[in-house]
Amino acid sequence: MRTSRIPGFYNKEITERQQLLQELYEGTDAEDVLFTKEDLSLPIDTANHMIENVIGTFGLPLGLGLNFYINDKEYIVPMAVEEASVVASASHIAKIVRSAGGFTTEVSERVMIGQIQVVGCEDLESAEAAILSEKTSLLEDANASYPSLERRGGGAKDLEVRIIGEKGASSYQKMLVVHLYVDTCDAMGANMINTMVEALAPTIEQLTRGKVYLRILSNYADQSLAKARCVIPPHLLETKGFSGEAVRDGVIHAYEFARTDPYRAVTHNKGIMNGIDPVIIATGNDWRAVEAGAHAYAARDGQYRSMSTWRKDESGNLVGELELPMSLGVVGGATRVHPTARFALRMLHIQSAKELAGVVVSVGLAQNLGALKALVTEGIQRGHMSLHARSIAIAAGAVDEEIEQVAKELIRLKEIRVGKAQELVASIKK
Ligand code: MEV
Repeated sequence: MRTSRIPGFYNKEITERQQLLQELYEGTDAEDVLFTKEDLSLPIDTANHMIENVIGTFGLPLGLGLNFYINDKEYIVPMAVEEASVVASASHIAKIVRSAGGFTTEVSERVMIGQIQVVGCEDLESAEAAILSEKTSLLEDANASYPSLERRGGGAKDLEVRIIGEKGASSYQKMLVVHLYVDTCDAMGANMINTMVEALAPTIEQLTRGKVYLRILSNYADQSLAKARCVIPPHLLETKGFSGEAVRDGVIHAYEFARTDPYRAVTHNKGIMNGIDPVIIATGNDWRAVEAGAHAYAARDGQYRSMSTWRKDESGNLVGELELPMSLGVVGGATRVHPTARFALRMLHIQSAKELAGVVVSVGLAQNLGALKALVTEGIQRGHMSLHARSIAIAAGAVDEEIEQVAKELIRLKEIRVGKAQELVASIKK
């Protein structure tokens, strides 16, 4: 069986890592697209069809989150990210969590929301009643506008109307908002939903005698939630100079800080997105959509709070949970067009958007614990600095073995800056 536990991967050369993967994936459908056989970069001609005014493409490091064991399945997780330590930290925590039985996830049905804004109705209540009396035919019309979705078992499933605007509100502030609930199957669904709400707009105008302005998907995908959970016995958290209990308690204190204080919550949640965005990007999904939905969900009770929760159970274990809206897909859009995204999905061996959503929140939870564990023990700078020093060495013109040499010297001198690195590079090259 394929494993995500590959000891020493970190210390290998890139070609050795690729070779290892080749062996690991032999006979699977990821094998034929592995690095040595196919160029994974985005061809400029494809890029030119994706957006406007193209002049090039933009590369990011693609690393592998290792050790992930989720719902009794192994996952090697491709992560596209520019920040040092993110991949190492996620893999470190995934290793601890796998010793505790791995992550478990719960993912709701994939229902996305389309919104239609109606203004200028004479009487909002009767306009609402008019829409609801035609609910069945409106749902049929929505599905007729995107028939392939219903054939796949998805489609528009329900419709609700919300009245917005208090008594005394101005005509700009009063409106009806129709919510169309659509099962988008394995697609993120933006195109499907936008097609459907645009198709319904003329009928909605006739029914309400109002004017429709906006017809658009809501990125607040609170009907499409994914939750990850881990339960860690304290001894697994022990680290140099800190008992497992001390680390566990530190993490719970850090959580309470982020639960109550928005200034801390933003940074805490940024650490969670450090794990989530790289997987969203590597799989060709829309990270802005996931970001926007996640932060709104973190403020769902009116105050912006920690996205995750950390507590102690009766046996003294550290219990972490992360639940977030996940508007993502495994078909359509860049997931199919970008060669790296295609490869990433094959490598993950993911069968559905729900499965991907579960993996993404597990990585987010791991990343969060990685940051908190470092913050409540030695701090994050030591880990950060060695990779940061390498980036500085590269920026100063170091190549091959010079990179390691210059980075080590920068750390020894405690002067991790480009000017110093340039001096060192110059003296080596002499
Ligand atoms: C840095 O990219 C992320 C952290 O600031 C997250 C946190 O503070 O929890 C380390």
